[in-house]
Amino acid sequence: MNQAVNPDLQTVTTVTHWTDRLFSFRVTRPRSLRFRSGEFVMIGLPGEGGKPLLRAYSIASPAWDDELEFYSIKVPDGPLTSRLQHLQPGDPIILRPKPVGTLVHDALKPGHRLWLLATGTGFAPFASLLREPETWERNERVVMMHTCREGAELDYGRALVEGLRDDPLIGDLIAGKLHYYPTTTRQPSPHMGRITDTLTSGQVFRDLGLPGPLTPEVDRAMVCGSLAFNQDVATLLRSFGLTEGSNAQPGDFVVEKAFVGDGI
Ligand code: FAD
Ligand code: A2P
Repeated sequence: MNQAVNPDLQTVTTVTHWTDRLFSFRVTRPRSLRFRSGEFVMIGLPGEGGKPLLRAYSIASPAWDDELEFYSIKVPDGPLTSRLQHLQPGDPIILRPKPVGTLVHDALKPGHRLWLLATGTGFAPFASLLREPETWERNERVVMMHTCREGAELDYGRALVEGLRDDPLIGDLIAGKLHYYPTTTRQPSPHMGRITDTLTSGQVFRDLGLPGPLTPEVDRAMVCGSLAFNQDVATLLRSFGLTEGSNAQPGDFVVEKAFVGDGI
């Protein structure tokens, strides 16, 4: 079935494998799809009996991009990703064009310093927001903290951040505003430690030469990781006086799950 027959069917254009557990891919974008950078959609493959096997995925590309990008885990026995990891350019993929989510600028009150806090594939919505001009127009500083167990798991994020300077749309906008703080927790690297720990100890402020701690007058945050990570970060942000926002009621920080379950 082609796209003209089924508007939910898109075509894979490129696939990049980053580690044996992580890959990214780009697909054609339905002409009618409008979304806000940071939102997620349902994507998938035909399942048994022709019923679609769908999962939530953050759109990793910005709202202005002609294609859609996704950044994915490979769960060894995962119903979808055990198959999705074998995608090739030209393959069809199902995409339900109903974007939703709370990691959007509309859900945050205006601030001065935006913290993007991610573990693992929780980087995906920030891959979109980092390439979104509004992110840089709204904030004087943007701190991208990304933590993984091992160094290679940071590669997709690192490549994306390093590419921002050469991006014709936002290269000039980010000058002097971007602070990137990748850390590992189970393998030596230049910066180590959990996001919660480096924020609490003040290490991230010292390393980046930024004033701390967080305050509701200055700071806004977007959080995307496992349930435990999200809960711990939300508790920490509340302890600094920040309040959670939503699409209906903008606040100082917003949270989205990077996946449902205990992790692998
Ligand atoms: P599932 O049966 O869905 O998952 C099996 C188990 O694998 C889960 O119980 C969990 O323990 C673990 N797991 C699943 N996803 C992850 C993950 N991303 N990182 C670590 N452990 C995981 N996944 C992405 O890879 N990229 C995304 O951008 C993304 N965005 C999401 C946005 C939202 C709002 C939600 C709720 C989930 C998102 N997910 C994302 C997770 C995704 O929906 C699927 O769970 C994932 O693709 C695995 O699908 P599966 O059918 O292979 O296994
Ligand atoms: P750690 O190695 O100390 O558990 P996972 O692969 O389990 O989803 O974890 C991804 C990254 O997030 C790891 O570096 C992990 O650190 C970190 N992490 C997991 N849970 C939390 C939490 N509750 N608070 C802060 N960081 C967390």
